[in-house]
Amino acid sequence: MTVKPFLPECAGISETGSLTIGGVCALRLAEEFGTPLYVMDENEIRKNAQRFVKSINEHYGGRGLVSFASKAFMCKEMCRLAKSEGMGLDVVSAGELYTAIESGFPMRLVTFHGNNKTPEELTYAVSSRVGSIVVDNTFELHMLEQIAKSAGVTARIKLRIKPGVEAHTHELIMTGGIDSKFGFAIETGEALAAAAEALGMDHIELTGVHCHIGSQIFDIEPFEVTARIMLKFMNEVKTILGCELSELNLGGGFGIRYLPEDSPVPLEKYMESVARVIKETCGELNLNLPSIGIEPGRAVTGAAGITLYRVGAVKDIPGVRTYVTVDGGLTDNPRPALYGAKYAMTAANKMNQAQNKIYTVSGRCCETDQLGAQVTLQEINVGDILAVFSTGAYNYSMASNYNRLPKPAVVFVKDGEARVVVNRETLEDMARNDV
Ligand code: LLP
Repeated sequence: MTVKPFLPECAGISETGSLTIGGVCALRLAEEFGTPLYVMDENEIRKNAQRFVKSINEHYGGRGLVSFASKAFMCKEMCRLAKSEGMGLDVVSAGELYTAIESGFPMRLVTFHGNNKTPEELTYAVSSRVGSIVVDNTFELHMLEQIAKSAGVTARIKLRIKPGVEAHTHELIMTGGIDSKFGFAIETGEALAAAAEALGMDHIELTGVHCHIGSQIFDIEPFEVTARIMLKFMNEVKTILGCELSELNLGGGFGIRYLPEDSPVPLEKYMESVARVIKETCGELNLNLPSIGIEPGRAVTGAAGITLYRVGAVKDIPGVRTYVTVDGGLTDNPRPALYGAKYAMTAANKMNQAQNKIYTVSGRCCETDQLGAQVTLQEINVGDILAVFSTGAYNYSMASNYNRLPKPAVVFVKDGEARVVVNRETLEDMARNDV
């Protein structure tokens, strides 16, 4: 079987048969910046951001905000990019908040998330004047009231709600059902009780509700159902507690194409359908249209990223399989091990050759770390540059230093130019905190 290389939008093929990314030759990038290397096409990230911002503006006028979920890919340059595209930022830890502050990101456009924020983190968020804190549980609500009181301010919050919707995705990234650790459930009454409590607090201003049903979701329906459930809950808060909340944040979760056979819903279609449901439901319930927030992460950066590796060994085990070993693996991409995630890949220096040989691509960690089991590639030799596609989300941000492997550099490419946005870690970095 010959598999033609599947090329994401940010990639191309040069006249000499090499892979290009954002108009830059992948072999040049590997040579100049070393491997493994995260390469991200800046134009592609901007285009995705613009599509989200344009469609939220189209459907909600000035009453919508697209926040980039920084957990998908966080560094100062990404914050600057998000700012320049008119996005807000979703952060989930002091580390993400610190990065945003250091980049000069406007704090009023930051939403602080997390199911176990420490007192120090809440104090940091309050003193940094983040735009909104999404409160996950009652302990946090009480702690925040005290922290805001001591700071002499009122904290603007949303409540994280479990709408009870099961999205079709990997079970480890399903977060909307009652058995999720995140937020307050509607059906047990705890969400309404939390709203009542928050409304009675002196240093808390409850402005709205938030939910996030999961990630890498391909259907529109769960998002529509969720929007309806959330608005019904907002209506309960209005009718029972006498407060009309003005903000509804529906989180992220929009799926992207990892494999040729994946067909995610175009995000404009999602925005259109959910906007229709929101407007209809608000009409039925006689609610004012709330301002709408969404928090895409993967769909902004995922398909814009390609990881380049160098092949260090090709090991044929007769009658069993042939291993191709690369100079990265579990440490720079834990997703195959965590979620059984599958990736499309190709030999970047052999784009004119047929992909008709089967290999298992393994990493270099002291684990059975496979980037792809039995994948069809060109004939592979030691020294080839292997490109793994759609690694722009939850790769760099989830990378580890297992085996004391330094994290790769991140390079942004754009219109034929490349620049480092995150330096490669050094050996000194590996022992920096050792005493
Ligand atoms: N908002 C909240 C509150 C979230 O928890 C998340 C992701 C997002 C937005 C962005 O979701 P996205 O649009 O990227 O799907 N590590 C996993 C994904 C975990 C997602 C966690 N929360 C993976 O590699 O698939």
